[in-house]
Amino acid sequence: MRKQIAAANWKMNKTFREGQSLLRELETGMPQLTSNQSVVVALPFPYLGMLKLEIHSKSIQIAAQNCHHAREGAFTGEVSVVMLKSIDVPYCIIGHSERREYFHETNAQLADKINHCLAADITPIFCCGEPLAVREANNQNTFVEAQLNESLFHLDEAAMQKIVIAYEPIWAIGTGKTASSDQAQEMHAHIRGVLQKQFGSTVASSISILYGGSVKGSNAAEIFSQPDVDGGLVGGASLIAEEFLKIVAALKQ
Ligand code: 13P
Repeated sequence: MRKQIAAANWKMNKTFREGQSLLRELETGMPQLTSNQSVVVALPFPYLGMLKLEIHSKSIQIAAQNCHHAREGAFTGEVSVVMLKSIDVPYCIIGHSERREYFHETNAQLADKINHCLAADITPIFCCGEPLAVREANNQNTFVEAQLNESLFHLDEAAMQKIVIAYEPIWAIGTGKTASSDQAQEMHAHIRGVLQKQFGSTVASSISILYGGSVKGSNAAEIFSQPDVDGGLVGGASLIAEEFLKIVAALKQ
């Protein structure tokens, strides 16, 4: 059975104190998770080390929201995978659409980031998803397939099995406009089909594919009930403990 994951992406929100109290509320309200469920919280870089020490519940794991594509060097202001590993960060979001759009990250750079994460035994949460114009032209399947191809298809089967994928249609991020659960299922099934062609059915069926884009407490259960949706990557609603806890509670068992 694939891991069911509720992942929070705080993006560039919350002061340190606000983050502390949000995590405390999450710990207090966290339901008992099954061995098949995980909760991941992607924190801003400055808080990773300190907040990790304050999390007592084994149910919550932290993630970085990004890393640099080089291993080390003269890249002022950037954070490497080696640095993340040195403070035991277990997950890292790679290729979020905001990174692709505002910071011009390319599929080739994302492939490098994936390689660094895997070498450090950090689980990449690889984001893919199409902009509105591509969806309107009905080219979303080809678009997402190219993203997977250019950043992940160099991996072998064993490496691929360590990746978590998040499908986040850009038109649904922060817009309040969620993909319908059928649209999510259709794309998740497509992604799994693409993975199956490239890596075989054992790998394809073992990879968790999360949906992201305006997931809330009120729509999570319906989206997560789809057979190929294995949880969510949540922005806005993850900043409110009560909302995110509802999303956790909506994970399949
Ligand atoms: P929202 O949940 O705010 O739409 O953001 C989704 C997202 O980008 C998560 O990474």
